Amino acid sequence: MALRHFLTLNDLSKDELKQIIERAIMLKKMQKQGDIFEPLKNRVLALIFEKSSTRTRVSFESGMAQFGGASLFLSPRDTQLGRGEPIEDSAKVLSRMVDAITIRTFEHQKLQLFAANSSVPVINALTDDYHPCQLLADMQTYHEYRGSIEGKKVVWVGDGNNMCNSFINAANLLDFNLVVACPKGYEPMAELLATNSHCVSVEHDPKKAVSDSDLVVTDVWASMGQEEEQKAREQAFANYQVCPALMQYAREDALFMHCLPAHKGEEISHDMLDHPSSVVWDEAENRLHAQKALLEFLLCNA
Ligand code: CP
Ligand code: NVA
Repeated sequence: MALRHFLTLNDLSKDELKQIIERAIMLKKMQKQGDIFEPLKNRVLALIFEKSSTRTRVSFESGMAQFGGASLFLSPRDTQLGRGEPIEDSAKVLSRMVDAITIRTFEHQKLQLFAANSSVPVINALTDDYHPCQLLADMQTYHEYRGSIEGKKVVWVGDGNNMCNSFINAANLLDFNLVVACPKGYEPMAELLATNSHCVSVEHDPKKAVSDSDLVVTDVWASMGQEEEQKAREQAFANYQVCPALMQYAREDALFMHCLPAHKGEEISHDMLDHPSSVVWDEAENRLHAQKALLEFLLCNA
């Protein structure tokens, strides 16, 4: 297989995405029954993180260890990247030493530039625009609880942010209907809405949006890098909190997801993570299994 990157979900075909979700479910089963499976023995994954992370970092590092490989966490504070070494040069050098590179950064273009200069697979661990690894886990989780998501109604409540953009890509690839419930001025990227109008719509009234839905998803109101907008956003999003009363509008068997970390009292009420519809802890765990399936896909088919 030619060199493949994973910068957005659109780097996968519909079939490949489904294949990775199914493989993640299998790898989870294998891990639970104690199977030793080390397809990445002697392989190294570098993790360049310019923003904080708990789940993404730990799931990639654990996944590599379980696969018999190793990982290197590279904080810009300690590398020449943080001192201005050009991205192109860093990509050329690092990709001669490791087998894959995971990057969490701000501008999506920075990730694209890195990938264009890398001779090994580059994985998006979150940018300002997309968070595709989270979607692998979310789609795995829905599949485990409810089977195929095709034709289902999914409602995104809150900011039209990186997670929301990745949900739009998922709606197109897995054929579900996505309704984005956000305040005016906080819609997802216009171009993305336009190209996906067959499966995505915007509804500013959260109750109408959630009505009859199969899955309700939210995320923080101010993402990493938007800290100074926190106060203004708290006002703009005040009517968009996901709480048990809002979930009443969803279908009885609807699920609730949040990529975490959550700000209780803001985008969710204090009781929402433990609401009967919530699958957030399985969703978090599935980061591990889904990314192992992704690593295997990118590195073992080569
Ligand atoms: N959901 C997610 O990506 O979490 P982290 O920021 O902890 O990695
Ligand atoms: N939208 C959030 C997701 C965190 C996992 C952020 O970018 O900070």
